[in-house]
Amino acid sequence: MDDETRLIRAGHAPGALAKTVGPPIQKGSTILLPDAASLYPSDDSITYGRQGLSAQFALQAALAEMEGAAGVTLFPSGLAALAGALLAVLKAGDEVLVVDTIYKPTRRFCDRMLKRFGVAVRYYDPRQSPDDLVDSVSDATRLILMESPGSLSFEMQNVGRIAELARARGVLTMADNTWGAGYLHRPLAHGVDISVQALTKYVGGHSDVFMGSAAAKDPKLVRALEDGVLHLGWAVSGDDAYQMLRGLRTLPTRLARQGESGLLVAAWLRDQPQVVQMLHPALPGCPGHELWARDYTGACGLFGFVLRPGPDLAVNAFLDALELFGLGFSWGGFESLAISCDEQLANRTFRRDYGGPLIRLHVGLESPADLIADLQRALEAYAKATA
Ligand SMILES: Cc1ncc(COP(=O)(O)O)c(C=O)c1O
Repeated sequence: MDDETRLIRAGHAPGALAKTVGPPIQKGSTILLPDAASLYPSDDSITYGRQGLSAQFALQAALAEMEGAAGVTLFPSGLAALAGALLAVLKAGDEVLVVDTIYKPTRRFCDRMLKRFGVAVRYYDPRQSPDDLVDSVSDATRLILMESPGSLSFEMQNVGRIAELARARGVLTMADNTWGAGYLHRPLAHGVDISVQALTKYVGGHSDVFMGSAAAKDPKLVRALEDGVLHLGWAVSGDDAYQMLRGLRTLPTRLARQGESGLLVAAWLRDQPQVVQMLHPALPGCPGHELWARDYTGACGLFGFVLRPGPDLAVNAFLDALELFGLGFSWGGFESLAISCDEQLANRTFRRDYGGPLIRLHVGLESPADLIADLQRALEAYAKATA
């Protein structure tokens, strides 16, 4: 053979790979098939790399174990998981009920794309009772999309009761369970049909990889989710899947520490004169605490609090005085973050007055004492700016 041919044929992986703790990362769009008959298999055999390879399969299996699912589908981001799962089960003429406290970009997808494809979108107040909510379904209602606790304002929903009532009416349920990370809360065990999460947050844990997942128990739904990804042509890389699997190994340990630190910080904040309300479902006395205690095995490090009324300028002074908390929209990583929320709350259907500016904190793996000292400085800056 000529040199160019020899170079193309040389250096393929050895037949048997040494066993490592993590799965091998296979990279490949092309899959070499053993014979002509395998080109068009009658079963689900993989014939093209977009369907996923060793690392993606290992991650799917681990997530299925955690979620108590028959199958888990991977998406290129958390938002893609929400959009993809909705597209997989909805059709023109359907109506979807979406909790008003949904992650804002999910709402944007519903308003700007789902509606354009003939799906009616109706928002509901997270404080509405499950009975009233399910009483409001119409013949066209196909799905209820929950997020509990709600984005930014942390309203809890009675997920199990909504799922039970919806099922009796033939309506599917889906939950964005990014706060519970598939670990602190398992929607499928509470009767929810599809459990979605942004793996980007706690499973990744290091603020550097995007991915989302959708898990289901019913094999027909698992198939619908897989078909959705297949038809849309979405794929996640083996490298990213490997990183997610690596994050999953330490998820319980990180969540335990971040949940505990978050509660310490929240309990301290509750006693500060500049704070009028805490929004942390795991903090006794906060709205939704009973549902959290019933349905969750722990808390993550994300929560909100309300400052006593003050101008935007003072809110910015608070945020700008923070030295350890970064200003950033994400969460779930090892680092602490803070954002102001009022601008995002303005586009809700059921607007609420929380009694002052709402701040969201993500407590990372730093020492809680250092984080409290940082917040103390920032609250002093807030007091000065409102004086
Ligand atoms: C509750 C929730 N769901 C979904 C997402 C989307 O995740 P991703 O950034 O991976 O698209 C986010 C991101 O902030 C989120 O907070």
